[in-house]
Amino acid sequence: MSRIYLSPPHMSGTEVELVRDAFESGWIAPLGPHVDAFEREFAACVGVPHALALSSGTAALHLAMRLLGVESGDEVICPTLTFIASAGPIVYQGASPVFVDCDAETWTIDPNLLAEELADCAKRGRLPKAVVVVDLYGQSADHDAIQKLCSHFGVPIVEDAAEALGATYRDRPLGRFGRLGVFSFNGNKIITTSGGGMLVSEDGELIRQARFLATQARDPAPHYQHSIIGYNYRLSNVLAAIGRGQLRVLAERVEARRRNFDFYRSRLGDLPGLAFTPEAPYGRCTRWLTCITIEPELFGATRDDVRLALETEDIEARPLWKPLHLQPVFSGCGVRGGAVAERLFKVGLCLPSGSNLTDSDLSRICNIIRESRSTTGVPSQQQ
Ligand SMILES: Cc1ncc(COP(=O)(O)O)c(C=O)c1O
Repeated sequence: MSRIYLSPPHMSGTEVELVRDAFESGWIAPLGPHVDAFEREFAACVGVPHALALSSGTAALHLAMRLLGVESGDEVICPTLTFIASAGPIVYQGASPVFVDCDAETWTIDPNLLAEELADCAKRGRLPKAVVVVDLYGQSADHDAIQKLCSHFGVPIVEDAAEALGATYRDRPLGRFGRLGVFSFNGNKIITTSGGGMLVSEDGELIRQARFLATQARDPAPHYQHSIIGYNYRLSNVLAAIGRGQLRVLAERVEARRRNFDFYRSRLGDLPGLAFTPEAPYGRCTRWLTCITIEPELFGATRDDVRLALETEDIEARPLWKPLHLQPVFSGCGVRGGAVAERLFKVGLCLPSGSNLTDSDLSRICNIIRESRSTTGVPSQQQ
């Protein structure tokens, strides 16, 4: 039996034709008609006027930081429960992240703690240059509350929707609740270009500047002329062709991931001490990853017992993101709260969530989880 991965790529079949077209038309070199079409189609899908296809979501976040003028000595607020790429680009710009805990119900940034942090910053006369808001594991953050706060303090938002393409907030697609929105097409995402990202905005001038910076900041001249330093961050025409094929099946991929979640819940929802990520009442989650929490005293096994039982059967499951304020590289950075994210990290597990999982894969995974419970009810030591 082959290994079951956490979230593997799932091609639709049309990508090969589109890639063949890129080859046959001679557009192998960077950029080309598939890039333009991918940007247009993606913008229409998210409901934004401007989109820029890039080599990764991290590149999109980096450009967002640079466009908002984040520089050495600045602070940028970021949730602590997220992947490092939400915060890394803050440091690329020489600034420091300040971490804020998540809400226990939605696992996304806690608006009350954000309000406290912004009020304290204002009192000190040192507002952050931006707030990064992350739509975690396909779940929308509480955007109305966050937007209200940030506009009160005049701080721009960057929405990191890397994990949440296809999700909505009050029926509106995610990615458009900040001055800039970021997506990833990394191999583990709901759709993939093998690697890639997208930066979106209502503001055409910002996207124009991002396009310039992402193409080595080349001045308009017949020769190579540069007045500022840019980056090589554009997506290639070949990868954009893959993205176009993937975008066509996005709705199906969302349904498949939500179906995985429903399957897990129907088979495991009765177990004491096992809970699923709640779905925030204001949004529709994609369930990019199905995540559970395990209270060992009630469940009869620890999170790691379950993870290792699955690993023994060649099934990949992973702990939730380790909170960024606990990462050695961010020791010394500010944090507001943190206990909720720490607790989730201790007891949380991401289950295999690929849109190509079969019922028999899902049944197998559920059986292993059920059987991992100690029959005596005494859990082994939590690691
Ligand atoms: C929340 C979040 N932000 C940013 C990224 C970065 O995207 P990429 O891997 O395309 O650079 C990822 C995923 O990888 C992510 O999960």
